[in-house]
Amino acid sequence: MILVTGASSGIGKQIAISISEMGGNVVCVGRNKERLDETLGNLKEGNHIAEVCDLTNPEVVISLVNRLPMLDGIVNCAGLVKPFPIKFLSKQKIDETFSINYEAQVLFIAEITKQRKLNKGASLVFLSSISAQHPHKGGAMYAGSKAALEAFSKTLALEFYPQGIRSNCLSPAMVRTPMYDHAEKGASKETLDEHVNKYPLGVGTTEDVANAAVFLLSDASKWITGINLTLDGGFLLAGS
Ligand SMILES: NC(=O)c1ccc[n+]([C@@H]2O[C@H](COP(=O)([O-])OP(=O)(O)OC[C@H]3O[C@@H](n4cnc5c(N)ncnc54)[C@H](OP(=O)(O)O)[C@@H]3O)[C@@H](O)[C@H]2O)c1
Repeated sequence: MILVTGASSGIGKQIAISISEMGGNVVCVGRNKERLDETLGNLKEGNHIAEVCDLTNPEVVISLVNRLPMLDGIVNCAGLVKPFPIKFLSKQKIDETFSINYEAQVLFIAEITKQRKLNKGASLVFLSSISAQHPHKGGAMYAGSKAALEAFSKTLALEFYPQGIRSNCLSPAMVRTPMYDHAEKGASKETLDEHVNKYPLGVGTTEDVANAAVFLLSDASKWITGINLTLDGGFLLAGS
């Protein structure tokens, strides 16, 4: 059984679908029940579950973890991008981004560990972003939260290897999802076209990320832990 957070949209939704296509059962976690049910409806037949949960609410998370079956893997896709120039940052804006992109993910895994919900040999995957290592203007909070998440994943890899549990990050560049559409609204067409043209292999699809997630969940990656896999269609190589 694999749990996917952010399964109600974009990358998480496709990862849930791809896992089911590979024969896996999925616990789909998100806040929006309607869209979670839509994801469930897109999964290949299996014993799938939808769990409505705001991961930034620690009490709700404890009770979610209590209800969960034993897990063979978790893909942490829930996240938020809200760009602000540095002069507009505030404690409230820092908290808003860090609470879901970092704190909620740390507390969720801590609770999973406390309640011993991971099988031996389980695989954990976190959605970072190329922004963590290559920040963009206005992305201070987003890049910072993802860099913190990468450090957390590496620490997990160290603490959990005695149980054969692995932890890795995926760092995509731009992928077409509702998050991308949100970014699109904040930029002019020229700026966006200029950015998109810098991808030798084009911008990513949710399937491109899901294929990598399925690999990291599977035994085909059993010798891989503590890494951060860049998925960028050649964007960084081409000099961005
Ligand atoms: N799209 C890109 O270009 C891109 C690039 C690099 C990295 N990433 C990363 O990939 C991940 C997925 O991105 P995406 O593009 O698929 O985003 P998306 O379509 O906006 O989906 C975000 C998901 O996060 C969930 N979520 C947000 N806050 C939550 C909360 N408090 N509790 C529970 N769930 C919550 C949302 O659930 P509800 O809708 O149900 O509220 C939704 O399912 C993110 O971590 C993002 O940073 C994306």
